[in-house]
Amino acid sequence: MQKKNSGIKIFAPASVGNVVCGFDVLGLAVKGVGDEVIAYFKEKPGLEIVHISGAKGKLPYEVKKNTAGLAAWRLLEYLGKTELGIALELRKKMPIGSGLGSSAASAVAGAMAINELLKRPLEKRDLLPFALAGETLAIGGQAHADNIAPSLLGGITLVRSSNPPDVQRLPIIPGLHLSLLSPELQVLTKEARSILSDAVPLKDFVRQSANLGAFVAALYRQDFQLLRRSLEDFVIEPQRASLIPQFYPLKEAALEAGALGCSISGAGPAVFALSANSLVAEEVKEAMSEIWTRAGIDHQAWVTEIDMEGAKKM
Ligand code: HSE
Repeated sequence: MQKKNSGIKIFAPASVGNVVCGFDVLGLAVKGVGDEVIAYFKEKPGLEIVHISGAKGKLPYEVKKNTAGLAAWRLLEYLGKTELGIALELRKKMPIGSGLGSSAASAVAGAMAINELLKRPLEKRDLLPFALAGETLAIGGQAHADNIAPSLLGGITLVRSSNPPDVQRLPIIPGLHLSLLSPELQVLTKEARSILSDAVPLKDFVRQSANLGAFVAALYRQDFQLLRRSLEDFVIEPQRASLIPQFYPLKEAALEAGALGCSISGAGPAVFALSANSLVAEEVKEAMSEIWTRAGIDHQAWVTEIDMEGAKKM
């Protein structure tokens, strides 16, 4: 039997889905915040989750009900190795149900932990479908790769299709920083999706597609002003704003403090803003944080950059 200290540890970053104008298709990886999965061989055959920390008892140990477990299991099935004795430990190091891609980070780390433990039978990019399989548990149906893709690959990603995965990594503009705030509230992605209307008025569809195209062009042209103009969501944000306490005052404070754009992170309730450098991002964080502090909303706040590496062995 191999010992735990001959196992491997994977870190997968948190992520911001949608990135304002790309509902279900844009995502970016968050540096320094994320989950860890440790995997090692054990004598008893089969995959088992032996320890979960940082989840306040909210996550199941049953492999097929846990996003990290299910992603790991699907990969073992694909490789024909389900009989191997493998133990997983999940260390949640970010808020759950926050809109920061918590379930995606766990699913990515679960799939990657198995791949690394088995000496990399697949390329990193080929782990997308297995991580997505884990993420279905959070969505309650076909998952979208807008959190999975950046958590696995790093950077800013554009998902042309989740099934089969067709993911493009976009360039970033040097200096781009994030201000992130996560309140002590939980909004389930399933619920935040159930309130969305199926119909999009034609004029909003046109404006939204123009912004998404301009967002991509801004990254390739390294153009902060075009990026600023493209960071508007006419479709999803107005429908979800009421799920987030003080959303509009928060956004106004971020823009007044100099942010390029501000919106809901994924399905919320976390919010984020993008800024052209770390000094502005600090001021934006302070300005947003003050709104929630005044309203008595407990929250965590970070200033960070985009993680360019994605999931990695520690
Ligand atoms: N893009 C999704 C949403 C979140 O906003 O509902 C994760 O796929």
